[in-house]
Amino acid sequence: MKKIAILCSGGDVSGMNAALKRFVEYAFDRGMQPCFVENGYEGLIDNQIHEAGYSDVAGIISIGGTKIHTSRSERFKEEAYRRKALENLRTHGIDGLVILGGDGSFKGMQKLADESGDIGFIGIPSTIDNDIAGTQYCLGVDTALNGIRVSIDAIRDTASSFGRAFVIEVMGRECGYLALVSALTSGAEMCLIPEIPYDLSVYKEDFLQQKKEGRSYFIAVVSEALKNSEEISRWFEEEIEVESRVTVLGHVQRGGIPTVHDRLMAFHFVTTGIDALLGGTKSAVVCYNNGTFVCKPIEKVAFKKYYIDEDLLKLGREFESPQHKQV
Ligand code: F6P
Repeated sequence: MKKIAILCSGGDVSGMNAALKRFVEYAFDRGMQPCFVENGYEGLIDNQIHEAGYSDVAGIISIGGTKIHTSRSERFKEEAYRRKALENLRTHGIDGLVILGGDGSFKGMQKLADESGDIGFIGIPSTIDNDIAGTQYCLGVDTALNGIRVSIDAIRDTASSFGRAFVIEVMGRECGYLALVSALTSGAEMCLIPEIPYDLSVYKEDFLQQKKEGRSYFIAVVSEALKNSEEISRWFEEEIEVESRVTVLGHVQRGGIPTVHDRLMAFHFVTTGIDALLGGTKSAVVCYNNGTFVCKPIEKVAFKKYYIDEDLLKLGREFESPQHKQV
């Protein structure tokens, strides 16, 4: 293997730049020429491919987002454009491609691998949503969680000063992982995610009791998947009789200085991926489970439903029980 390339696809995450740095340095270490594909699958189709050197990754480890840009490509769903993408890879003499992305990006990668035959493809789970089956961790999740934690801590200051409820809407698409972990680690009073059924009448009884005992403010963390932040805010005003505000955290959750954990995870993901390419793997996703990185066939990852760890869900179910009475 002489030349390998890397691209970022779908939502960016903090830690992608650390992955690019490791990619360039480890490729050179292993005697290969690293290449960058700019702008995700769109750039692959449009031949935005160039060789990368050490200077391209100098100073980027501490920066969020991705230096080589990303995209969500509609064109890539069409075979004719994928053929063009493969042609471009072959013209540049690229034998292996590493793709940082989520579920949708891996489905595209699988099609490319099926249609290619000669080139190797490795996926690296990279999404703040942590919604990829087969891996306990996706790059960027830790930075997103820490960013959310900073925001909720700040909101708690104003919530407690005013005696208000705050409904904080957290990203994650259909997955409640970010919301659940954020609610647990920020001491929220309420957590609503799609994976756990909830009963507002149980919350009501508990919250009214807490009010009697002196509680003046509430923090509710709600997954964007439920699309009910405004409704929950009205519920606080009408049923709990506390003034309420909604804060949609939005895209701030996707940026920021990558945490140490994400930088280190980027190193391990990329190293395992490049080793797999060198070992002759044609199509796989690097997964992290219980401290170990392994490559799994793509069909065990992209075409399966993710599950949130049962121990976490168990903790999440406690929000509805009236033991959260700290005032
Ligand atoms: O998949 C990452 C994510 O940030 C989701 O949490 C969110 O729903 C979506 O992307 C937002 O997409 P966009 O950046 O295209 O608005």
